[in-house]
Amino acid sequence: MDTEKKVNGFVGGLGFILAAAGSAVGLGNLWSFPYKTSQHGGAAFVFVYIISVIVMGFIVMIAEIYLGKRAQANPVSSYKKINNNLGWIGLLSIFVPFLVTCYYAVLGGYTVKFTLNSFSDNTSVMQSFSGNVGEVILYTAIFMILVMVVIMAGVQKGIEKSSKILMPILFVILVGIVMCSLFLGNGVLEGLNYYLNPDFSALGFDGVLAAMGQAFFSLSLGMGVMISYGSYTGKNIKVGKSAMMIAIFDTLVAFLAGLAIFPAIYHYYAETGIELTNSGVVLMFSSLPIVFKSLGIAGNIVSFFFFGMVSIAAITSAISMLEVATQFIIQKFSIKRKKAIAIVGSIGYLVSVPVGISLGFALTGKEGMTIAGQDWLTFFDLIGNTVLMPVCAFGACIALGWFTFKGKNAKENLSSNYLCSQLEEDGLKLGKFGKVFSFMVKYITPILIAVVEIFGIIDIVFPTQNGAREFSGNGLVVVVTAYAIMLVFIVLYFLFLKKKETGSNEDEITKNLS
Ligand code: TRP
Repeated sequence: MDTEKKVNGFVGGLGFILAAAGSAVGLGNLWSFPYKTSQHGGAAFVFVYIISVIVMGFIVMIAEIYLGKRAQANPVSSYKKINNNLGWIGLLSIFVPFLVTCYYAVLGGYTVKFTLNSFSDNTSVMQSFSGNVGEVILYTAIFMILVMVVIMAGVQKGIEKSSKILMPILFVILVGIVMCSLFLGNGVLEGLNYYLNPDFSALGFDGVLAAMGQAFFSLSLGMGVMISYGSYTGKNIKVGKSAMMIAIFDTLVAFLAGLAIFPAIYHYYAETGIELTNSGVVLMFSSLPIVFKSLGIAGNIVSFFFFGMVSIAAITSAISMLEVATQFIIQKFSIKRKKAIAIVGSIGYLVSVPVGISLGFALTGKEGMTIAGQDWLTFFDLIGNTVLMPVCAFGACIALGWFTFKGKNAKENLSSNYLCSQLEEDGLKLGKFGKVFSFMVKYITPILIAVVEIFGIIDIVFPTQNGAREFSGNGLVVVVTAYAIMLVFIVLYFLFLKKKETGSNEDEITKNLS
């Protein structure tokens, strides 16, 4: 049997879906989706978001999972298998999630701190925590160690098993908190109105752009993750169905998070007359603790579950981010898994500490610790998510749409129906949707991604007052740095990796590297 033979991978379809959903569901869902929605026109934003998920997210996700599944190897090898000149896209998609980890771990550390501190006063934690270097060092370390322990245990016994336990817990807690929130009484309707009232004039082009970017981030696309996780799946997994379930689950969680948060914020307003900040870092880490505190012991309990849930979401996401680099290092350098994650995790941790300190400086108004006029977190986020992530997502579409199957002539190469039949022959069975997918992945989705990239760059180089990002640093430095990094990876690839073996999943078993 296929599944018994293949030790290095997910045992079942459900395990894969939950692990991928664990990657997708993270701070992007619980924290940024709700406030972006409320900022950019409520239900109007949700509408555009859902469209983005369907026409871009879903397509890229299928492409990435399929690329990994097809190669049964890390992202570099996955792209190399298509064409030796494309491997650098894989290398870049390993680096981007690593870059994201370096600030994600800081935020993850915060959530752990808030969870543990739920029964005492959390209301001023953000201010004191962010100004407290010792705590940043400690809690980021705790978070990182939790992530590393799971990865060390392996794909099956670590990642798959933990996702199967943690994701259902997360969902049950979330639904429970939504219930509590909706029955708070006073202010609930105002909260729902603030969150969802459709206002297409508040949406604007910036809102559309924000929704598209959010869809990519939330689904963990353009970051090698779905290639990596996809590579751990066997023949028995239906790529299309799995991608659909992951996308639906991810969107549902994001939507529910807003239902949990805004009624509570407005209930507090209705009771006290005090208006709390309802966006940005402050919403989750400062406004919500004030609400929890006002609810007494019940609030403490809810706080514990709420931040516990956020921690779970952050941990399962960070696991996937670090697994990408770990997988590559194991396979390329034939290093044991434990050693590989020790290296990746330690470097990630060492970088995340200054990121955390810099964020603390920014939040407490201290001078210093900026790059290009911004705190390190924003800098990393812009490079990773705004500039480089779309490049990788674009690469996935182009690699699959134009390079994976060569036709006999130009007509075949241009035909999406030809691509569709080749994909089907190769085991990507999408049924009636296959033709639509092939057309989208070849023509439409790459164009949309290019739009996201171009306007994302314009938005940071020429920031507007109400742009998709509140950015005040030197955008040109950000963009130039990002493309310089990309160039470095291209050069590194052609110098050191193009002609070399870059390994596959099998190596972990055959070379005894688990
Ligand atoms: N999807 C995650 C979230 O919503 C964040 C994320 C973006 C991510 N890219 C990723 C997680 C890559 C893991 C790997 O918070």
